[in-house]
Amino acid sequence: MKSSNGQASRPSFESIWRMNEPINLDQKLGLFSDHWSPKIIAELNDQHVKLAKLKGEFVWHSHANEDEMFLVISGCLKIEFRDRVETLNPGELIVIPKGVEHRPVAQEEVSVMLFEPKTTLNTGDAQTSNLTRNDLDKL
Ligand code: NI
Repeated sequence: MKSSNGQASRPSFESIWRMNEPINLDQKLGLFSDHWSPKIIAELNDQHVKLAKLKGEFVWHSHANEDEMFLVISGCLKIEFRDRVETLNPGELIVIPKGVEHRPVAQEEVSVMLFEPKTTLNTGDAQTSNLTRNDLDKL
């Protein structure tokens, strides 16, 4: 199959071995320890499934074009909105609509799963900073 630019298109190596096999979250979480640096563990339908460890305060930001989902695996995550704060415990998730300002805060380390379009930048519309992550690692 050829794509419109004439290059042969094929599934990436990643997607060949990731699809159709179980992925163990604890095993993946054991592979990294850095904070605010999401790792891609699967992809489907132009979305990424990511794991991240969070600790401390992130930056206020919004995503103009993407809704994003946080599912807490361990720890207690606060999501600050301009008008309120939501608290998520393990087994709870929240969907943040596109365009809504938010700031994740983790007093102690939190592990989360994220589900969002591949185009999503972790710091959204905030000024690029040392928290901004491009070219995420795939685990
Ligand atoms: Ni966000």
